[in-house]
Amino acid sequence: LSTVEVDIGSIAPGASIKVMWRGKPVFIRNRTPEEIQSAAGVPVAELPDPDARNANHPGADASDANRAAAGKENWLIMVGVCTHLGCIPLGEQGEFGGWFCPCHGSVYDTAGRIRRGPAPENMHVPVYSFLTDTRIRIG
Ligand code: FES
Repeated sequence: LSTVEVDIGSIAPGASIKVMWRGKPVFIRNRTPEEIQSAAGVPVAELPDPDARNANHPGADASDANRAAAGKENWLIMVGVCTHLGCIPLGEQGEFGGWFCPCHGSVYDTAGRIRRGPAPENMHVPVYSFLTDTRIRIG
């Protein structure tokens, strides 16, 4: 399917789900205030990849607000594929509290931005929209 609709109403703060979209896993995480604060406190100049990699905001910088859903900063929706060689990172792991890729050690933060290791780019944010407060369409 080129688009997929997902009910996100039952995802509690601090929890994630994974759905498949165009043959790839998409992580949908309801971030906690601490996770948002942790990511928002990092200057873009310190990030290995300063591009948001967000298909909804082409060319935007990788600030936390440009990675999360517009006006709904608790929602982080991204393709769960490591930008190094395509493994699937593990959530709530690694020194930045985000994701860790077990293949070659890339570490992503709570905004899914690459912080350490060989991956060259932040995990990619696909096109999506909120149909209601609890339902999204990806693609
Ligand atoms: Fe993730 Fe290499 S594929 S670090």
